Amino acid sequence: MELHAKNVSLAVGGRTVLHHETVRALPGRTLALVGPSGCGKTTLLGILGLLHKPDTGTVLADGTDTCRWKDDLRRRFWQKHAAFVFQDYGLVDDESVAYNVALSGLSLFGSARKHVAAVEKALERVALGGRALERCSSLSGGEKQRVSLARAIFQRADVILADEPTASLDQGNRELVAGFLKAEAARGATVVVATHDEDLITLCDEVHHVGTTRPDLGTTPPHLGATPPDVGTTRPDLGATPPDLGVTRPDLGTGKLA
Ligand SMILES: Nc1ncnc2c1ncn2[C@@H]1O[C@H](COP(=O)(O)OP(=O)(O)OP(=O)(O)O)[C@@H](O)[C@H]1O
Ligand SMILES: [Mg+2]
Repeated sequence: MELHAKNVSLAVGGRTVLHHETVRALPGRTLALVGPSGCGKTTLLGILGLLHKPDTGTVLADGTDTCRWKDDLRRRFWQKHAAFVFQDYGLVDDESVAYNVALSGLSLFGSARKHVAAVEKALERVALGGRALERCSSLSGGEKQRVSLARAIFQRADVILADEPTASLDQGNRELVAGFLKAEAARGATVVVATHDEDLITLCDEVHHVGTTRPDLGTTPPHLGATPPDVGTTRPDLGATPPDLGVTRPDLGTGKLA
């Protein structure tokens, strides 16, 4: 799926966070959103993922103007097409790793055995094989982030939006994650990462410097406040529930995958 943010601006609390930003993410390609801390990478990622609506401009998904979409269409986009790999975001701590990986992908009437195998395979891809039954709350930050990646693999998402996916990882796991993102793009996914990781940036097909779309603004992003309001689990538009975690699946809780 092609995502095209066209001339998007967003002000929060009266301050400009993004100013006439234009960027296009293509299927089969990896796009890095880069720039200094506070320039709006996470915010732009959220706009591309339809988590926030821009004040001006629009986001086209395969040419369709998503700013006209009602909530049900946005929810469908999150459930069917998009996988979010955001720091400290989108995992249910009290549930098992398997639950968190499979939540949005399973049918109540599907073959449980097949899904169990698919969950395990996805976990193996991110070096978390054999950890399906552990509680998410017992994992480290980097492991949790890899659970989000495993969920993206399991979903076979058309669009993967990752916020600093290598930030809390050691060199080996950074390479693993970078390889995974490239592989997902190779199978046709649209991959967008916000990152400061030079190695990851080098690997990406395209690089977009956030805050520099308008030459008249120079390379310095507008001065902005301190706390992003809607990163993490307190997004006002989503509450504490991430888009693809709205369904309780007790059958995927701990104890069923033994
Ligand atoms: N609700 C808000 N009120 C005030 N400022 C906000 C709000 N939301 C975001 N900002 C500001 O917008 C700017 C962009 O935030 P964002 O999180 O997108 O930056 P970033 O480029 O991802 O930074 P980092 O590299 O540190 O993750 C920051 O200065 C942030 O403080
Ligand atoms: Mg950020």
